[in-house]
Amino acid sequence: CGIVAYVGHRQAAEFLIDGLRRLEYRGYDSAGLATVSSDRRIHIVKAVGRIDALAEKLKRHWAPGTVGVGHTRWATHGVPNEVNAHPHRGGDDAVVLAHNGVIENYRVLKERLEEEGYEFVSATDTEAIAHLIASCLAKHRAQQAEGTQGESCIRDPYAIPIAAINEATGKLRGTYGLAILLRDYPGVIFAARQGSPLVVGVGHGEYWVASDASPLAGRTDKIVYLADRQLAVITADSLQVLERDLGIVAHAVESLEMEVDDVGLEGFPHYMLKEIYEQPDSLTAAMRGRLSDVDATAVFGGLNLTPQQLRNVNRIVLTACGTSWHAAMVGEYLIEELARIPVEVEYASELRYRNPPVEQGTLLFALTQSGETADTLAALREMKRKGHPSLAICNVVGSTIAHEADGGVYLHAGPEIGVASTKAYTSQVAVMTMLALYFGRLRHLSYEAGQRIITQLRKLPDLVRETLEVNGEVRRIAAKYAHANNFLYLGRQFNFPTALEGALKLKEISYIHAEGYPAAEMKHGPIALVDQHTPSVFLMPQGGVYDKVMSNLEEIKARGGPVIAIAAKGDKEIARLADDVIYVPVVEEFLSPLINIVPLQLLAYHVAVHRGCDVDKPRNLAKSVTVE
Ligand code: G6P
Repeated sequence: CGIVAYVGHRQAAEFLIDGLRRLEYRGYDSAGLATVSSDRRIHIVKAVGRIDALAEKLKRHWAPGTVGVGHTRWATHGVPNEVNAHPHRGGDDAVVLAHNGVIENYRVLKERLEEEGYEFVSATDTEAIAHLIASCLAKHRAQQAEGTQGESCIRDPYAIPIAAINEATGKLRGTYGLAILLRDYPGVIFAARQGSPLVVGVGHGEYWVASDASPLAGRTDKIVYLADRQLAVITADSLQVLERDLGIVAHAVESLEMEVDDVGLEGFPHYMLKEIYEQPDSLTAAMRGRLSDVDATAVFGGLNLTPQQLRNVNRIVLTACGTSWHAAMVGEYLIEELARIPVEVEYASELRYRNPPVEQGTLLFALTQSGETADTLAALREMKRKGHPSLAICNVVGSTIAHEADGGVYLHAGPEIGVASTKAYTSQVAVMTMLALYFGRLRHLSYEAGQRIITQLRKLPDLVRETLEVNGEVRRIAAKYAHANNFLYLGRQFNFPTALEGALKLKEISYIHAEGYPAAEMKHGPIALVDQHTPSVFLMPQGGVYDKVMSNLEEIKARGGPVIAIAAKGDKEIARLADDVIYVPVVEEFLSPLINIVPLQLLAYHVAVHRGCDVDKPRNLAKSVTVE
């Protein structure tokens, strides 16, 4: 989910809509906004679906006022409908708020609040926060009336709401980023966070609040990153940051370097296809200035570790979610092969709650396109807390993970809009290859071997360009198999993660069930799925395991399963056996994941188009999942 808020001299709703559009990658099943007008009336407009639907509705029902909050939702509790869309009200409109995160104890809170007489209308966890704040507000007001509130409220006009919000948030278990409006304190935004990022943009006579920096780009270059347990009290001309137990604390205003992304389709029917075609350029950008012929190694400017620290690394943990996790898996093969450093790949959602024995000399890389994925952020924080250097491999400059990591490597892939990740994946794998080269050269890898890898890497953009020529052939094959209900994707070694990623791409955007498996492992279960209606996609690059994969392919054919093979140009043998062959350029084995994924991206794309699916915004997904 994504949150925005505004207070200043302009109509809040204008910014709220624009800001929400920039946060739409965090969820797009429903959206809403609330403003307070000068007569203290609260105006709420909500719509199911994309931000466009909300903008349309706003044309008919304008929400006036120079202060407001907005929200775009990825449903956690309750179906996506208008009632469950944020902002939510509490205590007869005394409180209106937008929330990102998950409140784990909301059922208990809800029961208590219902006993107090608060009426719940939605199925969300958020509504409990709104009523809880209203309840605390009423209690603190009553104490003031009785004269038991102390002197602080005379000095600070916001002492009562601050005390009420602090008390309420103190009772919440889980994660929250909150932007709160109070009817009796018009012209003020209260913003609180625990676990879910929130930033404040500082302007002249105006402030912006958002879940991440992207809505601020082009509006201000001054940004305050709120920390956990902090509460910001923001009016048009003041910002106060308080820590729950300490009171007012100093806040650092940092500079934001972020361009407004003006991203068009440039003639492509979908962002996904455009981004697949951008890969020769995004790979060039990932490698720019990072390959050194002098030392036959890769060069990274932002690792922020001393050469000695880097040489002492004796174990690498790679953590990520989704497609980024697949890039990490390719990284495991690459780093172990080229640098001989033991690597573990962990789902971030598991790592954050595990307590693995991690010795000194362990280095963590969090891989994330967006830099906002909640589980990846939590895993990074957990490893940082335990004292391990924690770096990010990230695409979005200025994102939360980029900000919190000790250092890292940017992908420079440019904005990725399609929900199914394509160019960010290949850039992550390219960075993994360069890191493997880098660590290899710090250890066993010879100058010559380093130079050979660099030469191969330099050819990569052209090889990907050549691979894209299969598009027409892939479209034909996609039409042939688009009605299948199940697909298997099979590959070995470097291309086992490619099989996983190919299957994920198809699943995400075409809604066909697909499983990626190590090719040899399929005989231990998935082979039971094979019949003439279940195609298997085989990754067949030339190399050490070619003959082994060929045997697996024969096993599928023997059971009547259709086979689509991704094979190296010049491979004649494969045409005898496979039903369809997609030929790709011949490359060394370590680069084959970067080539072989391209036809699989195209296959998923064309199958989805054939089935009439919403390629760029598939159902139920979000570009970045900012809740647990
Ligand atoms: C979501 C997206 C995936 C993405 C994953 C991790 O599930 O739908 O495409 O791979 O999050 O995102 P990140 O931004 O951390 O790479």
